[in-house]
Amino acid sequence: MSFLQLVAGRVRVCLPRLCLTALALLAASAFLGTVLRAADSPAALPRLTSLLGETADVQFQKDILRGLTAAFQGQRTLPMPAGWEAIELRLAASADAEVRTLAQALALKFGSQTALTELRKLAVDGRAEMGLRRAALDSLIGVRDMELPKLLQRLVSDPAVRSTAIRALAGFDDSATPVAILAVFPKLLPDERREALNSLASRVAFARPLVAAVVAGAVPRAELTADLVRQLRNLKDDEIARQLDQVWGVMRETNPDQKKEIERYRRLYGAGGSTPGDAPRGRAVFQQICGQCHRLFDAGGQVGPDITGANRGDLSYLLETILFPNAVIPNDYRASTIETKDERVITGIVKEQNGNTLVVQTATEVLTLPRNEVKKIEPSDQSMMPEGLLANLKDQEVRDLLYYVTRPGQVPLPVGSK
Ligand code: HEC
Repeated sequence: MSFLQLVAGRVRVCLPRLCLTALALLAASAFLGTVLRAADSPAALPRLTSLLGETADVQFQKDILRGLTAAFQGQRTLPMPAGWEAIELRLAASADAEVRTLAQALALKFGSQTALTELRKLAVDGRAEMGLRRAALDSLIGVRDMELPKLLQRLVSDPAVRSTAIRALAGFDDSATPVAILAVFPKLLPDERREALNSLASRVAFARPLVAAVVAGAVPRAELTADLVRQLRNLKDDEIARQLDQVWGVMRETNPDQKKEIERYRRLYGAGGSTPGDAPRGRAVFQQICGQCHRLFDAGGQVGPDITGANRGDLSYLLETILFPNAVIPNDYRASTIETKDERVITGIVKEQNGNTLVVQTATEVLTLPRNEVKKIEPSDQSMMPEGLLANLKDQEVRDLLYYVTRPGQVPLPVGSK
């Protein structure tokens, strides 16, 4: 995909230069042949890396590095090609920051100790640039550095990288994680809270302390949005299910009468008078329970469709889709439950899968998992849009939300909110 386009693009750009020397032409055609198979066969790696060692053209180095990065995304380790150490040294001294970063990340996959030490140092360096620190963390996460859980647990109190750290902790079955995340929870920004809750809901061992914290009131009940409740139920743990029934209410087993339910909300909305809601307040509610998945006007996520162009003005349609998201589910949005070999449970839309990797869109992020770490993929007949979205709202919050969603254009957030 992107890799092939990139190579094709390179060849076009390359052509005038290739005319100059027959040798370069030869190298390039060999290059192309190997590159095309690179994703399937690590055997092609040495050719590519030696080319990387030979060329002094920074743009060409970048193309190869970007291509390799894309081709081996999701593969945690690769055999180190012969002569790599010298190439690594040379690229580490490059004047170009992207070349240095990409080369280091690749070196890490090859098992380079130098890269491992450097990246660990960079990840915790409070004076280093935020983007570089995050990239360093991402690389370490990619190879599942065994020292990571401790390092990440420390970083959850570092505002510059805590979001990355919180998300990554879901990938490690480490018993100290729930305590570390719950300790900083009150200090987190709204988006970080959602990430924290998502990570805690990712495996039974984390979810039990989370649900206990909700029962105890340490985590506000309203923070458990419908998609989190569904994720928690997907863990299929009796104790968690019982406590959820307590704090969230028992999920209706039988389908309620759709017409009656829609009518009930129509009346609730109508009871608000001629201007049932307040649009800025409604935007805040939308941001809390819908915005992570939907773009509306100029803001929001991409898990579900952009609803700016949807039939929003029609209250019945709107209520039908919000209250009964499973009535009609386009196949692109069907949720699956994925279980990893180390007991992580992921709810998301399978976007792509091949022999090496599985790409899943969860309610908060796009995850690329090595295929050999996945135990089970269970497609469901449920939409990625959860049921029960309105269940926990106060009547006026429902009115504000519906009022906002039916507006023709964007409104400012209420004064004082973020
Ligand atoms: C976890 C992600 C998620 C959340 C949270 C979510 N949705 Fe959705 N929504 C989806 C997906 C995926 C679809 C498309 C599949 C479907 O229709 O079931 C969808 C479909 C819709 C549609 C129909 C779109 C169309 O083109 O007609 C509307 C309207 C909608 N959502 C509104 C909302 C509102 C309002 C909220 C908050 C109360 C919300 N959604 C919360 C994921 C989500």
